Amino acid sequence: MKRFLVRSISELVTCAGGKKRGRAMGDAGVIPDGAFVVDGGIVRAVGTRRELEAKYPGLPALDCGGCLVTPGYVDSHTHLVFGGERSSEFVRRLRGEPYMAIMAAGGGIAATVAATRAATEQELAEAALPHLRRMLAMGVTTCEVKSGYGLDTETELRQLRAVARLNGMQPVELIPTFLGAHAVPAGEDADRYIDYCIAESLPAAAESGLAAFADIFCEKGVFSLAQSERYLRRAAELGFRLKVHADEMSPLGGAGLAVRMGAVSADHLLQVKEEEVAALAASETVAAVLPLTAFCLAERYAPARRLIDAGAALAVGSDFNPGSCCTCEIPLSIALCCIHMHMSIEETLTALTVNGAAACGCEDRVGSIEAGKQADFLVYSCPRKEFLPYRTGANLVRSVYKKGELVYG
Ligand code: NIG
Ligand code: FE
Repeated sequence: MKRFLVRSISELVTCAGGKKRGRAMGDAGVIPDGAFVVDGGIVRAVGTRRELEAKYPGLPALDCGGCLVTPGYVDSHTHLVFGGERSSEFVRRLRGEPYMAIMAAGGGIAATVAATRAATEQELAEAALPHLRRMLAMGVTTCEVKSGYGLDTETELRQLRAVARLNGMQPVELIPTFLGAHAVPAGEDADRYIDYCIAESLPAAAESGLAAFADIFCEKGVFSLAQSERYLRRAAELGFRLKVHADEMSPLGGAGLAVRMGAVSADHLLQVKEEEVAALAASETVAAVLPLTAFCLAERYAPARRLIDAGAALAVGSDFNPGSCCTCEIPLSIALCCIHMHMSIEETLTALTVNGAAACGCEDRVGSIEAGKQADFLVYSCPRKEFLPYRTGANLVRSVYKKGELVYG
């Protein structure tokens, strides 16, 4: 079915109109009894069923059975490609050991680095595949994926090649990010490691063309503001767009740095300072919050309500990784946004779709049901968006379409 009308939609949530900030995030572009025309995998027209049936008589129809339809989700922050697993660390955390203390004692990210260095590109891709399948079943149609478990040029590039390989193995579209500065390698000094990234791994990643974004873990005990700035300046010079792991465990000022560097997103923000909330709100940098990590670490949530009220553009990602947050459950994310971060369901859907796309630099192609964009959309088993947090934790996605093709359900 090359050209068809999607109809019998009780509530069509379009998320149209580009990246949204502040109050505008509450407008998710809802059309009761909505419909849209898909042609060659692209959305051509959006309106009510009545309008489009009159304008496009006789088109074959995809009948959604009177259910909710939204754009596919864009998970704007994951560490999906890695070797091994860290369940024993999880148990240590349940007994009270802090995440950063485990890391400082040589565990945490370093454990995954050892397992990732030992894995082949094919093994890395195969290990990620079941997680991606699960994400697809929950409605994720685009997903950012970081390197960061190699901490040497060879393994970082192997991770990025695994992402490229995965792109061809399954329907979720992957956006790769180079995260060479994820941790200081064992026995290395942070400044010397940043020198290495500047001289070797960042240029090699740029040369490879495997990632459009560069990211750094700007954190007390990992990379300081000054080290992060040196790294990000070099990355920008080499043509990368920037992302920053900012103010996750301590209020170091990573969000302010992200804004000053013109980063596309500042991510985590659990500990962001009030003046940096204002700086984010006044900037083009997307505030990417990751509620599943706060939940798994039993830390406070990022101040999503204050960020939105101040006028920031907020995205929600999963942060799926083998350590701090080994989950990418969209239904749980939605529940945490609405119940614990006091976001409306409209704001939550905006954050998971068009603003997630903005955080990945692909809002021109995906993130909304709007003329000219890819026909990436979800058909649910419920009639209205309010069911998503109300049926707390349940996956109500019935079928998933990518570029107009049924890819799940
Ligand atoms: O975003 N904070 C740094 N990186 C990840 C955790 C990675 C890991 O623990 O393996 C995060 O939470
Ligand atoms: Fe992360």
